[in-house]
Amino acid sequence: MRRVWEALEGRRLPAMAVDLEAFDRNVAAAAGLVASRPRGSGPGGMTLRLATKSIRVPELIRRVLKFGAPYRGLMTYSAEETAFLASEGFDDFLLAYPTVQKSDVEAVVLVHQSGKTVRLMIDSVDHLRILSALVGMLDQPLELVIDIDMSLRPALGLMHLGVRRSPVRSARDVVALYDECKHLPNLRIVGLMGYEAQIAGLGDRSPFHKAMNPVFQGVRAASVRSVSKLRHEAAEAVRAAGHTLTLFNGGGSGSLNTTVEESWLTEATVGSGLLCSHLFSYYSNIRYEPAFWFALQVARSSDAGYATCLGGGYIASGAPGWDKVPVPEYPPGLSLIPDEGCGEVQTPLQSKGDELSVGSRVLFRPSKAGEPAERFNEYLLVENGEVTGSAKTYRGMGKAFL
Ligand SMILES: Cc1ncc(COP(=O)(O)O)c(C=O)c1O
Repeated sequence: MRRVWEALEGRRLPAMAVDLEAFDRNVAAAAGLVASRPRGSGPGGMTLRLATKSIRVPELIRRVLKFGAPYRGLMTYSAEETAFLASEGFDDFLLAYPTVQKSDVEAVVLVHQSGKTVRLMIDSVDHLRILSALVGMLDQPLELVIDIDMSLRPALGLMHLGVRRSPVRSARDVVALYDECKHLPNLRIVGLMGYEAQIAGLGDRSPFHKAMNPVFQGVRAASVRSVSKLRHEAAEAVRAAGHTLTLFNGGGSGSLNTTVEESWLTEATVGSGLLCSHLFSYYSNIRYEPAFWFALQVARSSDAGYATCLGGGYIASGAPGWDKVPVPEYPPGLSLIPDEGCGEVQTPLQSKGDELSVGSRVLFRPSKAGEPAERFNEYLLVENGEVTGSAKTYRGMGKAFL
């Protein structure tokens, strides 16, 4: 971290910097988890699909795929993004979030007709009906994947622990959708996705809600069992019904160690862990190295022990809270001021360490990995303690997708 701080001396701030060595180590560590998968599992071995929403910088996406096996393919978050990445030379897309917007479907169909591999996500007969009407006649049917809800529903289903996305809850629901799709010549279901958000996205060592950490540990442990059971049942049911199952995606950065244990999955997803925003340092089951920070310049000082930086209000999405706010990390001893947090234009800090002089710089770690790319045109690339280049974000390329 200190080396990144030093590398930014004299740079225009705010600046986002990626420590490429740490990034590459995270890429290798995630690949290592897949390699450690129990022997004999999965007919073709498991691959890793990169969640582009958590990177949003084509050059870094390219760098991950260059690592080679087990990395293969991209989990994209919007149809227009998928089309953009296809135009940048990428292939093998799983668009993980359903869309029924005409322009989106047209964009995906163009990618499909260009000969690239692209699959749309569905979770209902409505999706099938609307997509079939929008897609029209095709030489080759458009490929679809069913999103199965992996939430934990204790207390006889009265509690819902997980995300609210898909109504598909059982192997029977999955087979019913496959059966329905058989009547639609322009669509073909090729697989399943079951994302265990309450494991992958729920840190159990968070300094922001310490009292909840033991509860989250319990939720995570119970979910590992229920998720594994449902995914296994779904895979068996699809095969037993004589349907195709060429792709079964699960997991995310925060669950990789347990996701790779399931031999019926063909692939796991990873993204946030590679840049390791601060939320991804709060997991007891998995460790990534912080690999990116943004630097702000101290522009003024209102009182002794206080310094105010220009910029900084890059708050993450999700349930609002202090865990969605960037954390000042270097120099040490700095804290945000509860009344102001990271501000729209200015971010005041209190220092318990050395006084910060006007003109000095402070490194912050963002809460989530992908969203900061919406605030920077480029990321500076740091190697051996020096800025060796820069990489444009989607935003820097003139693109804002969602
Ligand atoms: C469908 C899906 N899979 C996987 C992930 C995990 O992504 P990451 O590894 O970047 O946290 C997410 C994150 O929200 C997701 O929505």
